[in-house]
Amino acid sequence: MKKRPIIIDTDPGIDDAAALCIALRHPELDVKLLSTVAANVTVDKTTANALKLTQFLDVDVPVARGCAAPLLKTLEPSSHIHGESGMDGYEFPPLTRKPLERHSVEVMRKMIMESPEKVTLVPIATHTNIAILLRMYPEVMENIEEIVTMGGGVAGGNTTSAAEFNIYNDPHAAAIVFSSGVPVTMLGLNVTGRALLHMDGALKIRESGPVGEMLYGLFRFYRGGTLEAGLKIHDACAICYLVHPEFFTAEKRFIEVATEGPAAGATVMRSNLIKADDREPKTNVCMDIDSEKFEEWFVGELCK
Ligand code: BDR
Ligand code: CA
Repeated sequence: MKKRPIIIDTDPGIDDAAALCIALRHPELDVKLLSTVAANVTVDKTTANALKLTQFLDVDVPVARGCAAPLLKTLEPSSHIHGESGMDGYEFPPLTRKPLERHSVEVMRKMIMESPEKVTLVPIATHTNIAILLRMYPEVMENIEEIVTMGGGVAGGNTTSAAEFNIYNDPHAAAIVFSSGVPVTMLGLNVTGRALLHMDGALKIRESGPVGEMLYGLFRFYRGGTLEAGLKIHDACAICYLVHPEFFTAEKRFIEVATEGPAAGATVMRSNLIKADDREPKTNVCMDIDSEKFEEWFVGELCK
């Protein structure tokens, strides 16, 4: 089977961990690199967490450390949701792996330029690394298939009433990415907030083996909802979209990222009632998700 080459930019993060456990072992995906960034916790911690996961899964995918801070803002981490380590809830074995020596922006440039096939970028964290990549090395755009991102939303935020965490933490970077002209698919809170894992599924995952036990430990800690009402597994939506776009409905709309003021980080969508909505570039905005199919897929992938 032909695999799709992807680079995941991530800040593990408990929902990141779940997304990575699927992506790193998925037969249709060729994960070339995990690029890390500061967001849920510091970049030292997100890098260590990415390495803990590749080591735990015993997969040979390189990890490159990226930016330690947003472009202009001060980092506001999310340890109240993911814990002090960023992946609290499971005691991982001591780390024996190391990240690549070069900065992830440099590694991404080289990988994209040398790839015989166009590469898809999958940011499931703030967009700092991707924005710097596009600004420093615009020639990479030619060889990027698309950017499939978890971030934003079309009906409010989870960090302020206007802004979702990944965009709120580096709105200037997100503005660069959304206006770059590279095709962007946005999986925002309006869909990821309905990508839920409930107790039944979590128990099946726990019983499936060591990876399931590890993830169950993280899920018990994760403050992104409750297993009774449903845990929001935001980042796994981006991976799900890559392999099952038919679980989602999407519309091509103009998105503008608010970069300053009280609504900074909001992804503002032009109304489709405006006739002359000829503003470009259009983003492929996911509007709806089949929550049942998502949960079935998510549990199934982790129980394989
Ligand atoms: C996003 O914020 C982070 O805390 C999660 O990992 C996810 O990427 C959800 O708003
Ligand atoms: Ca994340």
